[in-house]
Amino acid sequence: MTSDLDDLQGLGFVLYRSTARAGLDGSAMQDILRTARHRNQSLGLTGCLHHEDGLFFQWLEGPADGLRKVVASLMDDDRHCDFEILDQGALDHRRFQDWRMRFSDRDRASLMDWFARSDSSTVHRGDYAGGVVAFMMGLDL
Ligand SMILES: Cc1cc2nc3c(=O)[nH]c(=O)nc-3n(C[C@H](O)[C@H](O)[C@H](O)COP(=O)(O)O)c2cc1C
Repeated sequence: MTSDLDDLQGLGFVLYRSTARAGLDGSAMQDILRTARHRNQSLGLTGCLHHEDGLFFQWLEGPADGLRKVVASLMDDDRHCDFEILDQGALDHRRFQDWRMRFSDRDRASLMDWFARSDSSTVHRGDYAGGVVAFMMGLDL
C-alpha cells in the first residue's frame, strides 16, 4: 500500500519515472550505474533501473533511511528531470535481492511493447505502477 516515505520505518520501496537529460550518452549512463551501485551497497539498497525512449523507470528498495537519502539526491540530480513518484511504501520482502542496481534498456527489453502486449490477466486496468514492476520482475537479462 502506498504511504509517505517520511513516516516509513524498516523496509520500503520507491518507484519513480523521470525524463533523462537530452544527450545523455552511454558513458554518462555507466557513471550513473557505477555511483548508484557503490552507494546502494553501502546503504543496503537494491533495485532495478530501466531506460527507454528518454525515460527512466527505477525501483529502489531497502531500509527507509537509505531510501530517503537516495531519493533526496535523485531529486537534485540534473541528469534527469520531471521526477515523478509512481508508488512508494512499506515492503514485506525485496524484489531484487541480488541486485545493487539491475539495469535494462530498450535494446534488451521494451516496457512500451510489454504494455502493448499485456492483457488484463497480467496488468490490472489503470495499475500503471504495478505494470512497471511486473515488467521489471519479468526481465530476463
Ligand atoms: C536515473 C538515475 C538513477 C540513479 N540511481 C541511483 C541509485 O540507485 N542509487 C544512488 O545512490 N544514486 C543513484 N543515482 C545518482 C544520484 O542521483 C546521486 O548522484 C548519487 O547518489 C550521489 O549523491 P550525492 O551527490 O547527493 O552524494 C542515480 C541518478 C540517476 C540520474
